[in-house]
Amino acid sequence: RRRERNIASLVNSRLPQKMIDFLKVAGELGQDMGWEVYAVGGFVRDILLARPNFDLDLVVEGDAIAYARRLARQLGGRVKAHVKFKTAVVILDDQRVDVATARLEYYEYPAALPTVELSSIKMDLYRRDFTINALALRINPGRFGQLVDFFGAEQDMKNKAIRVLHSLSFVEDPTRILRAIRFERRFEFQIGGQTLRLIKNALSLDLFSKLSGTRIMHELQLIMAEENPLACLNRMQELGIMEAIHPLLKLSADRVQVLMELGKVNNWYKLLYLEPRVVPWKLYLLGLTMGIKRDQIGQVTSRLRFTTKEEREFLQLRDMIGDALMRLMSWREDKSRLSRLSAILRPIPLEGVLFLMARSRKEHIRRGISQYLTRLRDVTIDVSGTDLQEMGLAPGPAYSAILVRVLEAKIDGRAQTREDQLRLAKRLGRALSRTCKEGDGS
Ligand code: CTP
Repeated sequence: RRRERNIASLVNSRLPQKMIDFLKVAGELGQDMGWEVYAVGGFVRDILLARPNFDLDLVVEGDAIAYARRLARQLGGRVKAHVKFKTAVVILDDQRVDVATARLEYYEYPAALPTVELSSIKMDLYRRDFTINALALRINPGRFGQLVDFFGAEQDMKNKAIRVLHSLSFVEDPTRILRAIRFERRFEFQIGGQTLRLIKNALSLDLFSKLSGTRIMHELQLIMAEENPLACLNRMQELGIMEAIHPLLKLSADRVQVLMELGKVNNWYKLLYLEPRVVPWKLYLLGLTMGIKRDQIGQVTSRLRFTTKEEREFLQLRDMIGDALMRLMSWREDKSRLSRLSAILRPIPLEGVLFLMARSRKEHIRRGISQYLTRLRDVTIDVSGTDLQEMGLAPGPAYSAILVRVLEAKIDGRAQTREDQLRLAKRLGRALSRTCKEGDGS
């Protein structure tokens, strides 16, 4: 079977010129040092799938650290080397490149392959998770753009299949089960029949319960950062993985409903390019743990190995949301003030505000929260502490009380200009100093 074909024209048409130039330089350096250099993994997969991906991984059939050092020197970057793993990261102004040494794992797979076929790139690729991730692209001059496909990755891409390279893949690393689901849903592929059987087998051996919470949480974070996390979570539920992580995480119909709303709200927010950015897992974990009682939530956070600080923050966020839900019930668009809405939402982290938006069934509350996010939370006033000082007010806690009141007035449209705001501040200042004097009892 022919295992190489040249895809240089595809590379040239799908990558930015800067990346192509970089690959050429990296290939020439390999040639100088007498080593074959390959781009590998997701980077190559995504060229074929026409998806932008600038996470470049290089594999060198030689000394990756020496190679990375020369590459960095040539391009004016830094190197972080991991001597133990024979890997390095080249850090350039606008790009990080991982460089690894192709591993010859003779001892691990003594009889797996005929000796004549033992090239180090082949062994390196054979360690990987799925065929579509086990592709390499030659970049040395003269061979630039040769696609190295030992395991039928291109065929699998045509068939839209996620397939492992060997039957022990999930036993070696059960997190690959979650990766399989993530790639399946991201590319709208199908996990292959044999691969699905291996997943079910791994699950029935309970390999999942032996996985550390840290690794599960890491995979969950990646899933929740996908375009469509709910598709992945549904698939996980179908295979019994949610309960395998923790019985309290079963994906009920209620939770699916809320997660769907969360997805919509998150996409809406992303489309507006608003800052700050949402941390997806914080948002979706709120939906995933909905309905879990306060005294049980610790079971989930400790299964997922939250630190004390992370746990405290997450519990606080849930409490804040519960409190805000109550207060929002009495907020009426027509009669209540926008400043009151703003006061309810302002202390809550962004993910909590979006959760409230997704949870609210009342249209006027959703509209209010949307106004808060697009406009109100960014409202600033045109008077400052310096102005209060110039009015002769003694600095103290009264300052922030006055400035908050001025902000509320501006939000409610009662003090638009600096003059209006100064006048209001003065009035508030006088009133405050009067009450202070009265409070002195003199
Ligand atoms: N890999 C693996 N087993 C894992 C994790 C990673 O074999 N549990 C391999 C895969 O071959 C993958 C490579 O390591 O291509 C790099 O991993 P990662 O950076 O997670 O890969 P991408 O495939 O680029 O994933 P994404 O598109 O989500 O960034």
